[in-house]
Amino acid sequence: MIEITFLTNDRKVVSAPINSNLLRVSLREKGGIPFKCGGGLCGTCKCRIERGLEHTDPVKPKERNHLSQEELAEGYRMACQTFVNGDISVSWQVKPAVR
Ligand code: FES
Repeated sequence: MIEITFLTNDRKVVSAPINSNLLRVSLREKGGIPFKCGGGLCGTCKCRIERGLEHTDPVKPKERNHLSQEELAEGYRMACQTFVNGDISVSWQVKPAVR
């Protein structure tokens, strides 16, 4: 099992099987990563791997539609497209509430 720390959700720590999809773990364990489509289209699940980027799988072409070279270099990924094979910590931008 691996450990995923959801930094933006009070540093919530959950465990998951190796090679888990990051968004799926977030949904199952109430990690809190924002999402809409779940299919690599909307870009809502943009997040930053703050620790353990080396424990994620290669960046997919769909992610390059939403993330710049600089963002990729800084560890940004799209959670629904990212599989995790070791411990990571992840953060994301909290959108202001819609009134
Ligand atoms: S949830 Fe839409 S791209 Fe990931």
